[in-house]
Amino acid sequence: MSEIENIAKQMIAKGKGILAADESTGTMTKRLSSVNVESTSENRLRFRETLFSAEGMKNYIGGVILYDETIKQKTSSGKTVPELIKSFGSIPGIKVDTGAKKLAGSPEEKVTEGLDGLRERLSEYYKLGARFTKWRAVYSISEKYPSQLAIKSNAHALARYAALVQEAKMVPIVEPEVLMDGEHSIKKCFEVTAKVLKACFEDLKLNKVNLKGTILKPNMILPGNKSKNKSNTKEIAEMTLKCLKENVPAEVPGIAFLSGGQTEIEATENLNQINKLNNTNFLMSFSYGRALQQSALKNWAQDIKDKTETQKIFNHRSKMNGLSTSAKWSMDLEKQTTA
Ligand code: 13P
Repeated sequence: MSEIENIAKQMIAKGKGILAADESTGTMTKRLSSVNVESTSENRLRFRETLFSAEGMKNYIGGVILYDETIKQKTSSGKTVPELIKSFGSIPGIKVDTGAKKLAGSPEEKVTEGLDGLRERLSEYYKLGARFTKWRAVYSISEKYPSQLAIKSNAHALARYAALVQEAKMVPIVEPEVLMDGEHSIKKCFEVTAKVLKACFEDLKLNKVNLKGTILKPNMILPGNKSKNKSNTKEIAEMTLKCLKENVPAEVPGIAFLSGGQTEIEATENLNQINKLNNTNFLMSFSYGRALQQSALKNWAQDIKDKTETQKIFNHRSKMNGLSTSAKWSMDLEKQTTA
């Protein structure tokens, strides 16, 4: 097995998933403002270090996605952030796209940028300790969108990104996110996600990306958040599995879902159900941002110097998600608040 194939497996080995802590400074400022904490680089590090040094990291978090600012920061113990993450048995990763920008030709849609100079940035990140990367494309659902142009442009960028990352001996997380916003049905989400995934894998193949050394980070198949028809967890899991089975090549070792605006419990419960019904060979895990951090952040804001309670909350959330990767989560376990 090649080195990158090995890393891809380790990131989501049974019982583990990924912590997406790669919010850009703009996004992190919004998150901190929502709990009335000033967004200084010191505070951003303080919160992240609280999570990265929690016990739950050891058993449940196989990789952490960092942002450019964080990967270069030194923790209170003098270690760099990647060193701290490694000391907990987890792998440091880095977001390398530079954001979703207006797509010329279809200005209401977005294309993700960041290919210029990427080869050089990758080599710098490798030296800083990163062994995997992330690039996120976003697609909105409406009557006329996503357009073929948005689907093709993002697939092209994701594939060129992934090829460059493997050239630099790291694992690319390929994240095509069909957004949850809107009134659309679960069926519409299924159709759009199928189209998006098909286009991505066509371009990944064209760019000779080694799929065995690639992790897919997709959305679950869900109705829009303003849809009149809610779906139960069984329907969500069945539709998600069907969509992935039909559109993701079998060589891909693992799938790590984004949470995309689901509540913490929804994200855990849905992943648990997906693993209960999993009739594929894919490892099905998580790469959550909000669904791993929300409660921890709220608690931390009450006293940013006190790590203990925040770490307890994060440990619990990590453990619940860890259990869901092998369909061992339950609402009873959820209620036991200590990890
Ligand atoms: P959420 O789980 O909050 O959707 O974040 C995952 C992520 O990394 C988005 O790019």
